[in-house]
Amino acid sequence: MTSKEIRKKFLDYFSAKGHTIVPSSSLIPDDPSVLLTTAGMQQFKPYYTDPLRAEKDFGSRSTASVQKSFRTSDIDEVGDASHLTFFEMLGNFSFGGYFKKEAIGYAREFITKTLGLEISFVTVFEGLASIGVPEDTESQKIWKALDPAIRIERQGVEDVFWGPTGSSGPCGPTTEIYCRNANNEDIEVWNIVFNEFFFPGSREELLGNLVAKSPKKLESLKHPGVDTGMGLERLAMIAQKTRTIFETDLFASFIEKLTDDPPLPISHQRVIIDHLRGSVFLLADGVRPSNKEAGYVLRRLLRRAFVYEKIYTLSPDIFESILLAVIEQYGSFYGELREAKNSVINEYWAERERFSKTLERGVRELTALQEPISPAKAFRLYETYGIPFEIIKELGVIHTLNLTREDFDKEFRKHQEKSRAGAEKKFGGHGLLFNTGELKAADKKELAVVTRLHTATHLLHAALRKVLGNEVQQMGSDITAERTRFDFSFGRKVTREELDRVEGLVNKVVKDDYKVDYDTMKYDEAIKSGALHFFKEKYPDSVKVYTIIHPETGEVFSREFCGGPHVKHTGEIGTFVVIKEEASSSGVRRIRAVVK
Ligand code: ALA
Repeated sequence: MTSKEIRKKFLDYFSAKGHTIVPSSSLIPDDPSVLLTTAGMQQFKPYYTDPLRAEKDFGSRSTASVQKSFRTSDIDEVGDASHLTFFEMLGNFSFGGYFKKEAIGYAREFITKTLGLEISFVTVFEGLASIGVPEDTESQKIWKALDPAIRIERQGVEDVFWGPTGSSGPCGPTTEIYCRNANNEDIEVWNIVFNEFFFPGSREELLGNLVAKSPKKLESLKHPGVDTGMGLERLAMIAQKTRTIFETDLFASFIEKLTDDPPLPISHQRVIIDHLRGSVFLLADGVRPSNKEAGYVLRRLLRRAFVYEKIYTLSPDIFESILLAVIEQYGSFYGELREAKNSVINEYWAERERFSKTLERGVRELTALQEPISPAKAFRLYETYGIPFEIIKELGVIHTLNLTREDFDKEFRKHQEKSRAGAEKKFGGHGLLFNTGELKAADKKELAVVTRLHTATHLLHAALRKVLGNEVQQMGSDITAERTRFDFSFGRKVTREELDRVEGLVNKVVKDDYKVDYDTMKYDEAIKSGALHFFKEKYPDSVKVYTIIHPETGEVFSREFCGGPHVKHTGEIGTFVVIKEEASSSGVRRIRAVVK
């Protein structure tokens, strides 16, 4: 059974059970408290507290997806038989619809009947008095009723209590399905989460509650839901009866490209493949190598691969051929990879070029070490040359034996605190002056710029619909003093000629100095007025609607739900320039633009 078939069987199964199939969201999540998308449920978080919205957006309380996911926490584990940074997560979800009985029934039927695999055992939550959650006896009963012989293991909060992700969210006990691989090891393949609760804090705070008396308590969700996640690579390993995920059809064609001359240790082959594959997906979602956040994750992946290229004197074309093979293999399912092909390859070579000069010097310094390296010195090497920790560790050989990631991270944090102190000075010690989530400004000057960009974003939205049609809908927006970033639904790349027309329309409205005005109206009336709104947003009963209107003819160029702030006249905006158009995620495009 190929991986392609597994994806299809999964989606077909849940579609037949009344689930709406939703495309994967971008690896860059909407939730600013999360660095990268780590699970299928992330794009669905708001629906657990608002099932009616799920009905509105998906025509159903049940959805299923194959989600691009990335777990930085596993980066040090890559190289063994089953860990990856990037992986695909198959998931089915219920927002206040079906619950334990159906969820367990579906999972069992899919594994044993649809795929014809055997379940080794399942786990359930043993309960924990200090957070007020009892043992999950209901799931045990459901499993037993389906299969009286099944082995059930009771486990604790660390293993079988999911969530919340980010700074708050739904959470609850889980039941996991384990299957046997060709090595006779039992591997967890499916995690089925019962979101019965909402926690108004992070997972760390929730677990911290076990020891500290935090005022934050688990709240019962009015409509409990289901969130499941099954790693495609692990499932393929079970279904294809291989010993490791790297022997499945998902990796075979990439590994082949690493020839035996020179021979590479198997763990390094796996690191190279994992890191290049992950880089393709991050690049295609618009991440660019940098020294912070997602950009730094990408930089670590690429640079580690470059170091191997250097120390094993591999031909530089091999890695490019792997990147192209990744795009080829995954491009039919994730169209954004094909669309981003040129930028992926260009960014790859650009980062290689940036790194090559410093790598040379850094390697020289590391290989010349005469004594054990201190964490401070290791951090300096990182800061000066951009050599990631794992590479310092590897190249330093015996001189880095005692260097731990913990000590290195401590240095890292010291450095971060220093730069944070610098940033606080800039922001007057109060963080951002203005932050609506969409608009961010550090001071009054920046606020003036983001306000101009904000009105320009409304014009952009309206102009895109005029040029490309009503398929264009806002999917997200983020405005800083440097630029506006606008995500919208659209099935293909926007051509340069179309972008020129969009720019032209916006600049015409700027030149004609349209008036910007707002009304406060009832939600239903606002909808009737044809005002554009952000479908993912939840609005109150009474909303503000901004209209951009020709001062003489009364022609309305744009009408949109919005909290403001905006300029009073479009003439204040200045020249509007689109600087970039790219794929954001499947079926979603992203435009970055500035005002001058
Ligand atoms: N959200 C759960 C997980 O990622 C299903 O394991």
